[in-house]
Amino acid sequence: MRTRTGDRSDAAFIVEMARLASSIEGRPLPPADDPVLAQGLPPSPDTSVLALDHDGRPVGAAWWHFREPLLVVTPDGAPVPELVIAVTPAERGHGVGRHLLDALITRAARHGYDRLALNVHVLNPAVRLYCRTGFVVAGKGRGPLGVAMVRHLP
Ligand SMILES: CC(C)(COP(=O)(O)OP(=O)(O)OC[C@H]1O[C@@H](n2cnc3c(N)ncnc32)[C@H](O)[C@@H]1OP(=O)(O)O)[C@@H](O)C(=O)NCCC(=O)NCCS
Repeated sequence: MRTRTGDRSDAAFIVEMARLASSIEGRPLPPADDPVLAQGLPPSPDTSVLALDHDGRPVGAAWWHFREPLLVVTPDGAPVPELVIAVTPAERGHGVGRHLLDALITRAARHGYDRLALNVHVLNPAVRLYCRTGFVVAGKGRGPLGVAMVRHLP
């Protein structure tokens, strides 16, 4: 599985991934121009990683952002970057998500961050992937059924 840094030409794909990540499977997705969705997009292209298929087409993306109100802050009040991840439905269950998480963790550590946070719906099966990759529950997340999780970076 190849990955690469996102660039400006990936904007439409990232919005599609943000739509997938903002709802649990089988529920309606928000419109592409949803203002809440816009707040959770990558602040700059180098905060995103794309996974590519054999033909170089993107099949998933992960990035971080700092949407207000912040999900998690460090004990001394510093904002913790919030991860978003999604894989196209046909490519799920084959390790793409794990690969993207590993790539984004490496990138966030290089940017000087010592932890990553995420928000996940309690019924989202993605919780298993997060637990397997070292995320632990850090408290209440966004919305009534959101859970915040955090992982310390190497
Ligand atoms: C969550 C997601 C990114 C994982 O990507 P993936 O490529 O399927 O992940 P991997 O193959 O590396 O790992 C599989 C794990 O992902 C989780 N998963 C979530 N939805 C899944 C699906 N439709 N098919 C397979 N696995 C899924 C499971 O926990 C699975 O772990 P398990 O093998 O213990 O059951 C992907 O399923 C997805 O895009 N889901 C919709 C968007 C979303 O919910 N994003 C997260 C918001 S918090």
